[in-house]
Amino acid sequence: MVADPLDATAGVPYDVLADLRGGCPVSRTGSGAYFLARFDDVLAATKNVAVFQASFRAPGVVVPPEEQLISEIPEPRHGKIRRIINSAIAQHRIGRVEPFVRQLCNDLLDGLIARGRGDLVAEYVTPIPASVIAHLLGVDPADHGRFAEWSDVVVQSSYATLNRREGGAEGEGLAGVAPDFAAYIDAMIAERKASPDPPDDFVTRLLNTTVDGQRLTDLEMRTQLAFLLVSGNETTRHLIGNMLETVCSDVSLFERLRGDRSLVPIVVEESLRHDPPIHVLMRDCLKDVEIEGVTIPAGAKVAFGLASANRDTDTYDDPDDFRLDRPSARDHLAFGGGPHVCPGASLARLEGRLALEVFVERVAEAHVDDGYRREPVPVFWANGPQHLPVTLTGAA
Ligand code: HEM
Repeated sequence: MVADPLDATAGVPYDVLADLRGGCPVSRTGSGAYFLARFDDVLAATKNVAVFQASFRAPGVVVPPEEQLISEIPEPRHGKIRRIINSAIAQHRIGRVEPFVRQLCNDLLDGLIARGRGDLVAEYVTPIPASVIAHLLGVDPADHGRFAEWSDVVVQSSYATLNRREGGAEGEGLAGVAPDFAAYIDAMIAERKASPDPPDDFVTRLLNTTVDGQRLTDLEMRTQLAFLLVSGNETTRHLIGNMLETVCSDVSLFERLRGDRSLVPIVVEESLRHDPPIHVLMRDCLKDVEIEGVTIPAGAKVAFGLASANRDTDTYDDPDDFRLDRPSARDHLAFGGGPHVCPGASLARLEGRLALEVFVERVAEAHVDDGYRREPVPVFWANGPQHLPVTLTGAA
């Protein structure tokens, strides 16, 4: 039996993906979904929103419209809600975020350097995106730590249980999976509604924005805010974790970076290509469609292999190598493609660059513990280390 390309419990199965690209570019997974392995097919499919609709849910799960995540909302409403989300994320361009991230990274490294060892994922990687997205949304700094925890709770439910099944029990939804998180978001909304002078932040903007002449309901606002907090957090964490794992396992790369900081953004892109934080996207097929001679019927689940596409030999030379001399380093599919392409990509790149830049500025030497074996995170679509135990020496 062919190994399942979706089974990343022991890491993304790159050898299986290479075989599929070579001989069976549209295959069936263990759960019966169709799997697209080649770069060109995945890119074309991300653009084909008339046929492929995002789907995080298990079959039979009913999603009330107010709890549809932005990725699930069909056009044209999707485009309208996306414009609101984009305007919130774009706040980082006004230069408010860079000093915040730099200071945060420095503060986190102080303790690690003083001790000379620690788990980089827990002590450096995880707090960065959680605090940044919470900061952007105007969350009280004292509560930033709770966002990483809530994000884990939601993501580890894989959204599959977020809404009740047909005929099933009530009381699920975000409020069922993470009641404190839902209550926290509801309170942020209520405070701004009650205030005569609400802060100029994303929550206030969302409250005042209309779509099709109507405001979002409180439940729609909760849904979109929760998704933004989670999507900005889980993914960027794995980008930073994957990069640091690579850099701390390769002394010559670490030294090159310390000698030439202009290589940092190139490492960010190559890490996104080589080890994308989301290795697969799930879709529902809405109409029969033929790809590579295989008919995918309406109603089927379809998996877009982002990690597979990013290692396609038709697109990249020596795709398994981590190289800093690729001609079009940014042309990868780590952020997806088409109308749902990640609106947080530039923020994620900024966080990745600063996390690595500050690390190589402050740390002279870093080594992953002997015998380290990567333990992947327990989220089927995510690709990142759960722990990264290192010893490190601070720079003079
Ligand atoms: C390295 C970090 C990140 C990676 C690898 C990543 C990856 C992706 C991918 C692959 C998609 C497409 C999903 C689909 O087509 O179903 C996506 C969508 C999305 N991402 Fe990101 N993302 C990252 C960071 C962020 C950040 C920092 C934010 C927010 C601040 C964010 C917010 C979103 C949102 C709201 C969507 C849905 C867009 C839509 O459906 O129109 N992401 N992301």
